[in-house]
Amino acid sequence: MPVQIIEATRDAFVTPALLASIGQWVPRLRHRKVAAGHWAHRSRPEAVARLIAEFADGAHAVRGPRRAFDGRLVVVTGAGSGIGLATARAFAAHGAEVVCADIDAGAAARAAGAIAEDLGGTGHAAQVDVSNINQMEDFSRNIIAQYGVPDIVVNNAGIVVAGAFFDHTVDDWRRTIDVNLWGVIHGCRLFGAAMVERGEGGHIVNVASLAAFAPSRLLPAYSTSKAAVKMLSDCLRAELAGHGIGVSVVCPGFVSTPIAGNATYVGADLREEAVRGLARRGYPAERVAAHILRAVHRNQAVVPVNLEGKIGYALSRISPGTMRMLARWSATIRNPGIGR
Ligand SMILES: NC(=O)c1ccc[n+]([C@@H]2O[C@H](COP(=O)([O-])OP(=O)(O)OC[C@H]3O[C@@H](n4cnc5c(N)ncnc54)[C@H](O)[C@@H]3O)[C@@H](O)[C@H]2O)c1
Repeated sequence: MPVQIIEATRDAFVTPALLASIGQWVPRLRHRKVAAGHWAHRSRPEAVARLIAEFADGAHAVRGPRRAFDGRLVVVTGAGSGIGLATARAFAAHGAEVVCADIDAGAAARAAGAIAEDLGGTGHAAQVDVSNINQMEDFSRNIIAQYGVPDIVVNNAGIVVAGAFFDHTVDDWRRTIDVNLWGVIHGCRLFGAAMVERGEGGHIVNVASLAAFAPSRLLPAYSTSKAAVKMLSDCLRAELAGHGIGVSVVCPGFVSTPIAGNATYVGADLREEAVRGLARRGYPAERVAAHILRAVHRNQAVVPVNLEGKIGYALSRISPGTMRMLARWSATIRNPGIGR
């Protein structure tokens, strides 16, 4: 017998903690949230009625055993490669319906196709340039019209321009900030507003980097964009908490993805060195994806990933002077530090 629970996130009597273990007794369980207090059916009648109607319509589709993200709609940007691809697959493997968005239409289509073929899940492909406000508005409108308001949005798409500050042109800066920061702002504004309006909570994950708190002579624009993403995420987390929407910022160190090959190098051409270095690091994107799923599950605020990510985060808080010293030193050992 499929069962649905509707959790009122601010209910002081039937608290979320009371509902947490129901899954062990009811294998075919659909668990939805409404940002409301105890009298949710009086304060948010449309939301409660909609959830009941959706459940009655689709109850046959609630099958056991239950997976962590069953019935959830997830949007991942930059899902055509690396961390985004691994994240889209991980959510699908845990039962979510996933929209794979990328500027590269072919890569997005391959990612969505593989979710259906390899995992028997539901994947949709979308082409969008996250830095373009018009494209992002169309994208979010189409996704909401076709599949509904996403429960989880992962703003992951990002680019690297590597080189010294004076080798960066204004265009290098503009492109980096447009994709890495504006892309995240657009994703948060458009999908976040829809989540608030729907009133059933949700989660936004922004992918920043160790570079958000580790200064570097080789990644001035990239690091600036990632530091801004981290602060944006902290601000938004405070603002959206009352709506039952979690915001996490994920900050990986070096991850072995194609990012170093996709990067732009200004001044010295460090491409080969960077590609080799990142491959040698041997930290797979799948492990970052696992951290992203856990961040949503546990509503974690800041998630440093891998050894250098965790050490960098700890040092930046305990001894920022050491981080500044390392930044000066990093260029002298010709470690390109791509993707940090
Ligand atoms: N790989 C690392 O070492 C590392 C470390 C820390 C943080 N990160 C961050 O993780 C995220 C993913 O990086 P990755 O290593 O998987 O890189 P990647 O190059 O393998 O993948 C990035 C994807 O984003 C897409 N993309 C680029 N610009 C886009 C745009 N304007 N609109 C939509 N899609 C766009 C690309 O087509 C590509 O599919 C980035 O934000 C990156 O800064 C990576």
